[in-house]
Amino acid sequence: MFDTHSHILYGMDDGSKRLSDALGFAKQALKQGVHTLFATPHCYDGAYNCTKTDILDACRRFSHDLSAAGLPLLVLPGAEIRVNHDLIEAFDKGDLLTLNNAGEYILLELPLMFIEGAVSMMIRRLKERGIIPIIAHAERNPMILNRPDLAAEFIYHGAKIQVTAGSVTGDFGRDVMKVSRIMCEKDQVFCLGSDIHPGRKYRMKKAEKRLKKWIGDAATQLILKDNPACILSRKNDSEDTTNAANAAVIGSASPGENI
Ligand SMILES: [Fe+2]
Repeated sequence: MFDTHSHILYGMDDGSKRLSDALGFAKQALKQGVHTLFATPHCYDGAYNCTKTDILDACRRFSHDLSAAGLPLLVLPGAEIRVNHDLIEAFDKGDLLTLNNAGEYILLELPLMFIEGAVSMMIRRLKERGIIPIIAHAERNPMILNRPDLAAEFIYHGAKIQVTAGSVTGDFGRDVMKVSRIMCEKDQVFCLGSDIHPGRKYRMKKAEKRLKKWIGDAATQLILKDNPACILSRKNDSEDTTNAANAAVIGSASPGENI
């Protein structure tokens, strides 16, 4: 399976501090059936601002470390980019790292408080540029936690939703788990990520079991394998149905209606 969100790279942010931590996470990932993992250090989050060049260099270095340690884990570059007013300008300047540096999907973290119309507008502006935003751990954002309908709105405008494995397994509390389940059952979840940090448990395997119970084997496979594979190859994107499903939920609302 794919892990689409991690802080495995060492010495970058609040993730792994040293190589031994990072190799420890890699071993856990492999043990849990992860073959490909996106390294997504924090960017513009107020505390850390890892640059595109730094992340690409660190990812290359860590891939060598993995080979040297005999660990067959594919680590691909990415970034968890905090949404801010300058995001589109930064993107246009080429400063933002897309997932796998492929210029197709970008992982965004919403601030704790946001104006929904502004977020929808930003999603549309990225889409106009051929970029598909993936909203990281949407289920843990306090505004979405209170108004899960916001997920459908953002999907309608062109975003995808990523959920954290630990949210599915209850590590972030009952409310977060409940919203995660609602999103899964509404076919709103595009992919899952461990969001692994020191002090957190690696929950991909347990989350897989829970997802199978909630939504069955086929839908679980979409979230853990088929949809994230689209990040590597867009030719399969038509198989992802989350946008169509959520356009139906929103009905005939026009894109600018809530702004
Ligand atoms: Fe994260």
